[in-house]
Amino acid sequence: TSEDDITWSGVPISEILGSQSPWDAPEFPLVSPSYNHAVLYHVSSDGSIPTDKPPKPHVGQDKWDQDHVRMPCSSHSLYPVEDKNGKSRLKKRWELIQHALWKPIRNSEQLTNAILSYNTKFKTIWKFRALHKFFNEYLEEEETQYFFDVTLPEIAKLVLALPKLIQAPIPLLKQNMNHSVSLSQQQISSLLANAFFCTFPRRNTSKRASEYASYPHINFSSLYETTPLDSVLEKLKCICHYFKRVTEKVPSGVMTVVRRAVARPQLPDWSSSQQLVAVPLHVDSAATIEDMHGLIQLDFANKYLGGGVLGYGCVQEEIRFVICPELLISMLFTEMLLSNEAVIMIGCERFSSYTGYGSSFRWAGAHRDRTPRDGSGRRRAAVLAVDALPHASLASELRPAAILRDLNKAWVGFSFNTCEEGGGALQRPGVATGNWGCGAFGGSAPLKALLQLAAAGRARRPLAYCSYGDRALRRRLAALHQRLRRARATVGQLYNYILKFARTADADMANLYDFIERTIEEDQNGMKSST
Ligand code: AR6
Repeated sequence: TSEDDITWSGVPISEILGSQSPWDAPEFPLVSPSYNHAVLYHVSSDGSIPTDKPPKPHVGQDKWDQDHVRMPCSSHSLYPVEDKNGKSRLKKRWELIQHALWKPIRNSEQLTNAILSYNTKFKTIWKFRALHKFFNEYLEEEETQYFFDVTLPEIAKLVLALPKLIQAPIPLLKQNMNHSVSLSQQQISSLLANAFFCTFPRRNTSKRASEYASYPHINFSSLYETTPLDSVLEKLKCICHYFKRVTEKVPSGVMTVVRRAVARPQLPDWSSSQQLVAVPLHVDSAATIEDMHGLIQLDFANKYLGGGVLGYGCVQEEIRFVICPELLISMLFTEMLLSNEAVIMIGCERFSSYTGYGSSFRWAGAHRDRTPRDGSGRRRAAVLAVDALPHASLASELRPAAILRDLNKAWVGFSFNTCEEGGGALQRPGVATGNWGCGAFGGSAPLKALLQLAAAGRARRPLAYCSYGDRALRRRLAALHQRLRRARATVGQLYNYILKFARTADADMANLYDFIERTIEEDQNGMKSST
C-alpha cells in the first residue's frame, strides 16, 4: 500500500471501539417509563418488548395544552368551516382530515386539494411547486403511478391510524428540561404520515407570536413550498422511499429522544481541568460519520433541529435526517436548543443510500440497515445533535465567549450518560465527529477539532474524527494530539493555549497547531529552567 491508500492517522479504529466489533460497547440505559421519560408504547414489567412485532400503544389521556404536542386527532382540535350560507362555524378538524383521506387521491392535484381542505387558510398561499414538479416532471411516470396506486393509500391509512397507534400524550421537550420520549417505529411512521399530510395544528406559521415559534417545522408543507431544486426533489425521494418501506413491512423497533440541559454552575471550569487530553484519537479523511458504527454519531445541528431539512437545506444534518427519516420526529416536540443543551436520538434506522452533497445530493436506492438492536429494541445507532455557533468572520470565532460556548456545547453532548465517578476511566461508546460548525456555519476545522478533543478529554470518550477529505488536517491533528500526549497536557492547558492563540493579534488559523506546539515547548523549557 502506498501512502495515498492509507486514509487514517492516529490509533486504529479498534482502539476507539475498545474491541474489533462495533457492538461490544455498553448499551445505553434501557427504556423505562418515569417522571422524566414518556414511553408511548407498552413496556412489560421486565422492560422488554416483543422483537418481531411492533409494541402496543401505552394508554393514557389526550392532553390539549402548552406542555404536550397538540394532536391532529384530538377532539379539542377545531377548525373554522364555512357553511352554505357563508357562515363560519367550528368543526372537529380530525373529521375534516378523515373526510379528505377517505376519498381516493390519484394525482398531485388531488393530493394538494386534500391537504388544503383542512388548511383552508393557506388556499391562496401554498402553491406546492416542489410537490407538483416532483410527481409530474421529476419522477418517471411509472414511479408516480406506483406511488399513487400503492404507497399513498397506505400513507393515508397510517395517518388515520394515529388515534389507535398513539393513545398517550407526547410531552414537549422544552428548554432547560432533562426529559426523554420513547416511541415505536410504527408510531413514528404514523406521526410522520401526518406530517406528510400537514395535519399538525398550529404548526403552519413560524411568526414570532405563534405558539410554536420556538419549534422547528413539522408539517411537510414547508418542503413542498421550497423552490424545486434537484436536491429538494431528491430529499422527497428519500422520504417517499421511507414510506414505501414502512408500509410494506411495519418496523418493530423503538427509538428514544433525550434532551439534556446542564445548568450553568455545573458546566466545567475549563481553565483548571486536570483530565489529560490524551483520549484515543483516530482521524479518517475518507470515512463519513454515518458509517462509523458503534459510536455516538454527531449531527451538525441547527438550534432548530433538522435545520433546513423541510426547506432547501441539504448538508450534513439534512442529509442524515432524510436517509434516516425517523430523526424528523424530534422536530415535532423539541424546542429550539439553548447553548447548554444537546439532544441524543437512539435507535433510528437508515433507509436510503445517497451520493453527492449539497446541490449534488442524490438518492441512491434502498439501504438495508443491519445494525443490531439493544435490550430495549432500539437499533444501536445514536445520533447526537449539537449546534455550533455560526460565524461570519475569524474575529467572531476567536472571541473567548464564542470559544467557551462551543466547548461547553460539545461537552454537554459528549458527556451524555458518562459516569463522573469513573476515576478517569475511558467511557464507551466513543464519539464520531468531524468538521462541526465548519461548513454552513463558517467555522474553522483546526479550532473546532481541538475544542472537540478537549470536550472528549473531559468526558473521557475516545474520538473518531472524519476530516472529510482533508488529509493535511488528518495528519496535523494526529501529530498535535501525539505531542499533547507526550507532554501529558491537560484539558485545562489545551484550553488556555487556545485562548492564548486567540489573543495574538495576527491569529491566522493556519498557524494554530504550530503555535500550540511552540507553546508546549516553551512551557516545558520554562519548567526545566525553574527546576
Ligand atoms: N461525515 C463527516 N463529515 C461531514 C459529513 C459526513 N457525512 N458531511 C459533511 N461533513 P455542515 P455546520 C463535513 O455544513 O457548518 C445545516 O443546515 C464537511 O466538511 O453540515 O455545523 C444545519 O441544520 C462539512 O463542510 O455543518 C445547520 O443549520 C462540515 O462537515 C448548519 O447546516 C460541516 O457540515 C450547520 O452547519
